[in-house]
Amino acid sequence: MTEPGDVLRTDYQRSVANYWDTNQNDPVNLVLGQVDDLYHHHYGIGAYDPAVLDGPAETREDRIIRELHRMETAQAEFLVDRLGPVEPRDRLLDAGSGRGGTSIMAHHRFGCRVDGVTISEYQVGFANDQARHRGVDDDVRFHFRNMLDTGFDTGSMRGVWTNETTMYVNLNQAFAEFARVLRRGGRYVCITGCYNDVTGGRSRAVSRIDEHYICNIHPRSEYFRAMAANDLVPIEVVDLTALTIPYWELRAESAVATGIEAPFLTAYKEGSFHYLLIAADRI
Ligand SMILES: C[S@@+](CC[C@H](N)C(=O)[O-])C[C@H]1O[C@@H](n2cnc3c(N)ncnc32)[C@H](O)[C@@H]1O
Repeated sequence: MTEPGDVLRTDYQRSVANYWDTNQNDPVNLVLGQVDDLYHHHYGIGAYDPAVLDGPAETREDRIIRELHRMETAQAEFLVDRLGPVEPRDRLLDAGSGRGGTSIMAHHRFGCRVDGVTISEYQVGFANDQARHRGVDDDVRFHFRNMLDTGFDTGSMRGVWTNETTMYVNLNQAFAEFARVLRRGGRYVCITGCYNDVTGGRSRAVSRIDEHYICNIHPRSEYFRAMAANDLVPIEVVDLTALTIPYWELRAESAVATGIEAPFLTAYKEGSFHYLLIAADRI
């Protein structure tokens, strides 16, 4: 049996795990997931239907929640689209798997085995329950493991992704581990927020986001430096910043707003923060 001490090696990792184990701050993720039992811990993309803000007041909140959930699922679709031609015999790794939504979507898309790792024991239990409930637990499995040391065999994975998780880890260490488990020609896909080092260091709004999520947002340059140092060669970079702003604007209208909406909107609009997708191949 894996002991917490084997997985959580630093005080920082223990505090991050505690945040996700208790998840006291943000009921938003559970509320959105309850729409169709697909649970995400990331943000959405695309335009929202302005009609959700009109109409009967008593159902307005319900309309907003459904629309926010549609947008967060669209974000995961966008990521899964970039994993390339994955075969049912292939394996995928979801590094920092949260409540498991993206893993379940990837399995439905490709029919292959998906393993998710997270340092939250609560999330492992929740996500494995979801996989069982959907009857995919033979193929979709969640583990209490650290993405910096996943324990999977070298070269065993066709694809690895991180959906809003790299701000919790040292990029060099994470990418070294992803490059190790990826087979040659395998694909790594990352969706992340990163700060814009063209305009200087961390802006005040970015620092507030770090504080809210106990994370450490990296500069944009660091992603490409750490990929190049670990045999991960970018094939596609998509700036999703403009596409995610509507999600934050709509969320600010909702009863599940957490107060972090304003710093996100400020950071994106002033240009100090980007929401990026980076797809890279393991050479
Ligand atoms: C913002 S959530 C994203 C969850 C999921 N990727 C999604 O899109 O719904 C961040 C996740 O990263 C995980 N995490 C943070 N540091 C980690 C580490 N060192 N190893 C594994 N998981 C980690 C957290 O436990 C949490 O599940």
